[in-house]
Amino acid sequence: MLAYRHGFHAGNHGDVLKHLVLIQVLDHLGSKDTPLRYVDTHAGAGIYLLADRFAQTTGEYAEGIGRLWDRQDSPPAVARYLELIRRFNPDGGLAQYPGSPAIAQALLHPQDQMRLFELHRSDHELLVGHFGRTPRTQVALADGFEALRGQVPPSSRRALVLVDPSYELPADYGRVVACVRDAMARFAQGVYLVWYPIVRRSVSAQLPGRLARIARGAPKGWLHASLSVAEPDEQGFGMTGSGVFVINPPHTLRPALEAALPWLRDALARTPRARFLLEHDQQARDEAGPRDGVASARRATLPKGRHVHARTPR
Ligand SMILES: C[S@@+](CC[C@H](N)C(=O)[O-])C[C@H]1O[C@@H](n2cnc3c(N)ncnc32)[C@H](O)[C@@H]1O
Repeated sequence: MLAYRHGFHAGNHGDVLKHLVLIQVLDHLGSKDTPLRYVDTHAGAGIYLLADRFAQTTGEYAEGIGRLWDRQDSPPAVARYLELIRRFNPDGGLAQYPGSPAIAQALLHPQDQMRLFELHRSDHELLVGHFGRTPRTQVALADGFEALRGQVPPSSRRALVLVDPSYELPADYGRVVACVRDAMARFAQGVYLVWYPIVRRSVSAQLPGRLARIARGAPKGWLHASLSVAEPDEQGFGMTGSGVFVINPPHTLRPALEAALPWLRDALARTPRARFLLEHDQQARDEAGPRDGVASARRATLPKGRHVHARTPR
């Protein structure tokens, strides 16, 4: 029985980072006409009302999107993210927050496909209510880790897969690695975006390195960004930040994040020790084709091949 409901967390700092990156990737992939398959293995409810009891119980959105809502001075990737969130709030106030399926739907073209998987019955019902009649969209009450197997490669051989579990079960970390490994073996050209929470658990800290090893076979390498904004609670628990690991990232993502992450760190910081990390492998850095070819990406590992930009506040 799953207890997690994303409604409690919609619009928090983790969603800000995840959805900003998702928008950047979708914008880039949208520049081509060949149909794209968007797969959301853990789709949630799709869209969230911030006045409802879930969001109001935690107030997490106030420390995420709430801190950015009125800002007019943001770098381009943040401005683009805010512009999209504002589309869902045409009256000007921050009333609803789009989940990843709503963001994807807003940016996909008519020829593209959406595949949405959700295991919680109540959120699945909401998802069907929002997207059940959307053309070229399938919504399933299914285990997204398992379902991904049947989704790649699509016949168009263009896919973006968002793997965004709740990590309610510690086994989720291993299941993320296993499902991405399996999908990469089927379709190494796909774009895979994995979100994870930064918590005091070795499985969380180890996840980027495990994904980097899988991404050795990715033609366009990988990129890893994380943003830590808070301190753990007195018992040492709590999500202090989050990260996104992108396999085969568009070449536009790194410069976009180089500008966005320092600004986001300052805007979202709840501790003077707030910080960000941006790292990538050689091949992702030089998408046009590195001089020493694919071998350099295959050699790149998180410890050896990374290019790291880590910053704490000035
Ligand atoms: C972090 S939320 C998803 C948020 C959504 N991707 C977004 O960005 O708006 C994770 C969701 O995964 C669902 N879930 C948990 N285990 C799952 C599984 N094995 N397969 C599919 N969905 C699952 C939870 O019920 C929850 O709604």
